[in-house]
Amino acid sequence: MHVTAVVPAAGSGSRMAGSLPKQFLRVRGVPLLSRTLMALRAAGGIDALVLVVSPDQVDRCRQEILRPFGLAVDGLVPGGADRQASVFAGVQAAPAGTDLILVHDGARPFVTPEIIRLAIAAAAEVGGAVVALPVTDTIKRAESDLRVQETPRRESLWAAQTPQVFRAALFREAHVRANAEGFRSTDDSALVERLGFPVRLVPGSRENLKITTPSDILLAELLLARGEAGR
Ligand code: CTP
Ligand code: MG
Repeated sequence: MHVTAVVPAAGSGSRMAGSLPKQFLRVRGVPLLSRTLMALRAAGGIDALVLVVSPDQVDRCRQEILRPFGLAVDGLVPGGADRQASVFAGVQAAPAGTDLILVHDGARPFVTPEIIRLAIAAAAEVGGAVVALPVTDTIKRAESDLRVQETPRRESLWAAQTPQVFRAALFREAHVRANAEGFRSTDDSALVERLGFPVRLVPGSRENLKITTPSDILLAELLLARGEAGR
């Protein structure tokens, strides 16, 4: 099985509200995106890696994210206006013969080899796999008027993380169809699900968090400090 990882890292990090896109922030001296790429490399089982960054950060990425840490990628491509467009740009740069495409957010540096291995195995078996966690909060559904529409049973709700892994042909088709039909999502699996293809959940971990807000940086520092103390 040839596996290509696509790493979307072309966002602006608006919820972090910093001057620098969050993936370039250094936590304990190392940029978050470099940490994510090192975690993917450490996993093994990934044959090619395509990194997607904002068109105006390509040079900066080479200088600050890749070169200082001896990281190499098979493709470094400019992203798009939303996450889906960035992932699609990465998918188009994947080697033609790849069997599986693994999408992993550049902002999730704490992914483990075990999670990656389980996600790849599940996708190889059923066609699609999404790492996810049972939600701990009760979820409300409401429109912009804040009037509660629904309170789904918590037992059946999962929060999607990445990696998400799909058969390459299926994932390409899902993107083409979504683009043609004007469907947009922040979630890769949603594109595949709407075509009716099976997707299996793979239990993730709370530590595989997506660095999104300033408090996530504090948490990342603590997790790294603990990891370094344990060495
Ligand atoms: N992403 C991307 N291209 C975009 C938007 C997002 O490649 N146009 C990437 C981000 O860089 C991140 C991942 O998708 O690695 C998950 O997105 P998110 O956490 O929402 O990051 P941002 O969009 O940068 O943050 P925000 O939504 O707070 O602006
Ligand atoms: Mg975003």
